[in-house]
Amino acid sequence: MPISDLGLDKTLAALGVAQASQVPALFAEVRAHFEGHFKTVHDESEWKMFRDRWLGRKSGVLTQITENWLKPATPELKRAVGASLNELRAYVETQIEARRTAIESGAEEAALARGRIDLSLPGVIRPVGSRHLIRQVFQEIEDIFFSIGFSIVEGPEIETPYYNFEALNIPEFHPVRDDMDTFYIDLPKGAPGQLLLRTHTSPMQIRTMEKRKPPVRIIVPGKVYRRDNPDATHSFIFHQVEGLAVDSDITFCDFTGTIEYFVKQFFGPSVKTRFRPSYFPFTEPSVEFDVSCPFCSGTGSSAGGGTCSKCKGAAWIELFGAGMVDPAVYGFVNYDAKKVSGFAFGMGVDRLAMLKYGIDDIQVFFQNDVRFLRQFP
Ligand code: PHE
Repeated sequence: MPISDLGLDKTLAALGVAQASQVPALFAEVRAHFEGHFKTVHDESEWKMFRDRWLGRKSGVLTQITENWLKPATPELKRAVGASLNELRAYVETQIEARRTAIESGAEEAALARGRIDLSLPGVIRPVGSRHLIRQVFQEIEDIFFSIGFSIVEGPEIETPYYNFEALNIPEFHPVRDDMDTFYIDLPKGAPGQLLLRTHTSPMQIRTMEKRKPPVRIIVPGKVYRRDNPDATHSFIFHQVEGLAVDSDITFCDFTGTIEYFVKQFFGPSVKTRFRPSYFPFTEPSVEFDVSCPFCSGTGSSAGGGTCSKCKGAAWIELFGAGMVDPAVYGFVNYDAKKVSGFAFGMGVDRLAMLKYGIDDIQVFFQNDVRFLRQFP
């Protein structure tokens, strides 16, 4: 029944109510109407509309009853209307107030339920990183040399031509500069001198000998840069470990013994080493060290009888350059070439890692593909 049917805008006389005995039934209807609508009040906005409808000062149901039914009523009716109205008001007010509390606590509970932590849910598992294979191989190399008395030093990747070339007995226009296609750094006009990205870790031989008196026994792990086009065995950035030992009585035997010790520690006791004459401006004599191919055990043929794909049948794999320190180098660092002797070597870490772990493309070291990285946790 619509609320307008209650006759709230009419006087009791107009509604045909003349006796006190008719009043309770009239109010019972109003109350039934209240209850019918009250059932539909569930949230705060519904509740506000409902409260205004019933308790609003100007035109709420109770105000209308006061204005239209009570005030104009005959003295005989006034008592009964007044009593019923008071009863109705008390009922309506308590009901409406009770609903407010219910709605508020319901909302609170819902909010609590939303914020409750479900301890039975599985946790968020964040993957733990691991060291890059190159980092791991650096560590292996460092451990081996550390155990035989070498210490580890690091140096700048941005170098001067003096340390990268001149002091290593590579004067300007020396042909080996062509083999080391170099990245030069664009400096502002008028800047004194030149800077470059070091093409090898050998500059640290000079920097170390400038600072220390012999005996010197160091290795230098680090990044180096060359203008190479990327392919399976070339990258414009790669890694080297330099070695330098200088003392008063170091011989070629100490040199080959140290290298052989390292290679066997790194690849295992069954590999063999050999060296061939080579040339570097800062060592004399210079050699290339080879290791017997760890994939075909130095036979040159694969298990199936074909040619070993790693050493291409050669049975040997070129490992690194080395030699006895050229006396000319001592001149640059104020060592007395008559009193000291020593050896130096430089190894490509990426190459060692590829050989030891059977990787055939150097590019995977720089692509950071987790499918590759996860294989070396
Ligand atoms: N610096 C040389 C290179 O990068 C390697 C090397 C180091 C050779 C030390 C001899 C002695 O090719």
